[in-house]
This record gives sequence, structure tokens and C-alpha cells, in this order.
Amino acid sequence: MATSTINAQITVSPLTPGIGGVVSGIDLTRPLNDGAIAELKDALADRLVLFFRDQPIDHEAHIALARAFGGIHIAPSTAPWRVPDHPEVTIIHADADSKFVAGEDWHSDMSCDEAPPLGSILYLHTVPPVGGDTVFSNMYAAYEALSDRMKAHLEGLRAMHDAVVGFGGITPEGMTLPRHSHPVIRTHPVTGRKALYVNKGFTTYIEGIPRAESDALLAYLYDHVQHPMFQCRFAWQPHSIAFWDNRCAQHSAIWDYFPQTRSGYRVQIAGDVPH
Ligand code: SIN
Repeated sequence: MATSTINAQITVSPLTPGIGGVVSGIDLTRPLNDGAIAELKDALADRLVLFFRDQPIDHEAHIALARAFGGIHIAPSTAPWRVPDHPEVTIIHADADSKFVAGEDWHSDMSCDEAPPLGSILYLHTVPPVGGDTVFSNMYAAYEALSDRMKAHLEGLRAMHDAVVGFGGITPEGMTLPRHSHPVIRTHPVTGRKALYVNKGFTTYIEGIPRAESDALLAYLYDHVQHPMFQCRFAWQPHSIAFWDNRCAQHSAIWDYFPQTRSGYRVQIAGDVPH
């Protein structure tokens, strides 16, 4: 697939045929004009996840960038993952003292919310010399690769998504973690395409069928979404940004760099209730 110049403003180089685009010709640290925002929306709809190099963005510009695409989704994070005075910004950090990292299992961010975030914008200022990539998987492709019989079987089913699972069994003090049910197959509100919407990080069971059947079906689907055919893999550099669409992509952060440091900030864009 060739590099495409969508119009005079940005250039998008596909990372794989199905998912991922490296965007150049844009400075995300400054306010974007309407044309640039429209181009980024088109590129996101086409590529599912966009990558940008050399964008040393501060918190204000990061929040403003997210606001250009919708409201802000506030993640239920607590200290030490909160940036003082900026509740919109979550710290993503791992180093030699870390016992876990955010987002290691395949997941779609906060799918346990009634209206999960439309997208997430992650900026890393510090990355390990090697490793620490993020892998993304295309949930349209995962849906389309299912057999017609399996598509028909999943159509109309709903599954429970629970933050207690996503947060590794830890409930931050004073918080009630969300759990909500969503369609197993959702329709993307912008593209109108169907996408598989269960993920290992948050989904606990499919409703209305025996638990053993649900466990077996989810195990199959979790394995299915990890097929390399659906994936792209992003190698971070200092000051890279990744902007992904949680409605049609899952991701997994690879923690292969211990005891090195990987650090940055994430802002999420408010989404709607999946249908
Ligand atoms: C996340 O799941 O939001 C974090 C992804 C990453 O650190 O690469």
C-alpha cells in the first residue's frame, strides 16, 4: 500500500495493509485548524491507529488535541498515576521498581464503562533503548475473518466488561469500579462497519449462555483477535505519539524491557454507548 497524501496538510504511511499509519506533516503541539482535524479523523477511520514522531507535547496541548476530537474521558486512576492539576492526564510509567504495567493484556481501553472512550492519545517522552513496543489489532478484520456461522452465532449476544478484572483485582480506595454489558459485535458509529468487541482485559462472560460455553467462546475469540494478520506493531521513540480508536482496535503493551524505564502520558476522548 502506497503512502498517501490525503491533501496538502498530512501524509499517512501505512504500517501494514490493514492497520496503522505513520503521519507526517503535522505539529500536534500547536492548535490544529479544522482542515487538519478533518484529515486526522479520516485517517483514523481508515487506519484505526495513527503514529506521530517528534511531538514533544505538554499537558495543555495534549488535552487540547484530545478535545479537538470530542470531550475528555476521565480515567479512574489514582495517585501515583494522576498528574496534579490535570485530571484528564494519566501517567503511563514503568521502571525497575514496577510490579506490573498498564495494558499488558489485549484490551480496548475502559470497555467496562457504559460509554467507553472513543480513542486514546498516548505520548511517551522516555523509552527503553530497545523494546516497549505496543501491538494493535484490527477488530473489523477479526470480525470479518470469522465464519458466517460464527458471525450468526455472535450476532445479538452481549458480554459483561468489568474493571475489577482490568485493574488486576485492585479497587482503588474510595472507588467503585464500573462494569457494563456491551454487544459482542458492535457497529462503528463513523464507518458503519461491524467490529468484534470482546477483550481479554475487561470482558468476563457472555450473557444468556452457560458459563462454560461463554468461557470456551471467549477463549476462542481472545485467541482469534491475536492473529498476526490483524496486527501492527509500533516501535516507540522519545516524543512519539500513538492515537488509537478503541471502537475498532485492541492493543497490548509489551513489557519486555524490565528494568528499563518507559514513561509518558495518556489522554482519552469520550465515546458513546456501543451499539
Ligand atoms: C494503554 O493500554 O493505554 C497503554 C499502552 C502502552 O503503554 O503502550
